[in-house]
Amino acid sequence: MNVRPFVPNDIPSIASIVREALRENYPTSLYLDIHRWWREGFLVADLEGHPVGFLASVLSADGQARILMFAVSTGFRRRGIGRQMMNSFLQACAMRGLRRIELEVRISNEEAIRFYKHYGFELAGVLPKFYTDGEDGYKMMKHL
Ligand code: ACO
Repeated sequence: MNVRPFVPNDIPSIASIVREALRENYPTSLYLDIHRWWREGFLVADLEGHPVGFLASVLSADGQARILMFAVSTGFRRRGIGRQMMNSFLQACAMRGLRRIELEVRISNEEAIRFYKHYGFELAGVLPKFYTDGEDGYKMMKHL
């Protein structure tokens, strides 16, 4: 397994991970926009030519990154793939001299919240009805 930058050919595989793991459907243009925004911040976990996970982020305010999507395909979790992607992402943030990373996560998503805490993210507030189905979100932050 290796972590590499996203390429547009990854879109069908990534869109299927997004449907399965994040239960969302986005247009192709969204992935291309994220890619244009900050190439080093869009990473793919590649297992023998097949994307099995990805992390997509953007640069928001000065010195800050925001993780928009992060997921590993169901059958490939708890094997260190998320860890490798997060480590590569943290390196990209350090190379860029970023000071802070933020993200939002569903309050019911205990697994992801545990993962993020493991990497030094802290709960930084509740976002009422953040998701389209009405669920609240947590804002989480990590200072670098
Ligand atoms: N409980 C406790 N610790 C855990 C758990 C868990 N459920 N899952 C992972 N960990 C720990 C592991 O022990 C491991 O520790 P180590 O680094 O000391 O070895 C570390 O976290 C990394 O685990 P990985 O196996 O690398 O994690 P994985 O590949 O399973 O990816 C992820 C984690 C991406 C959160 C995965 O569970 C997933 O895809 N979930 C569904 C999608 C999702 O909810 N994404 C986040 C939404 S929020 C957003 O997108 C901004």
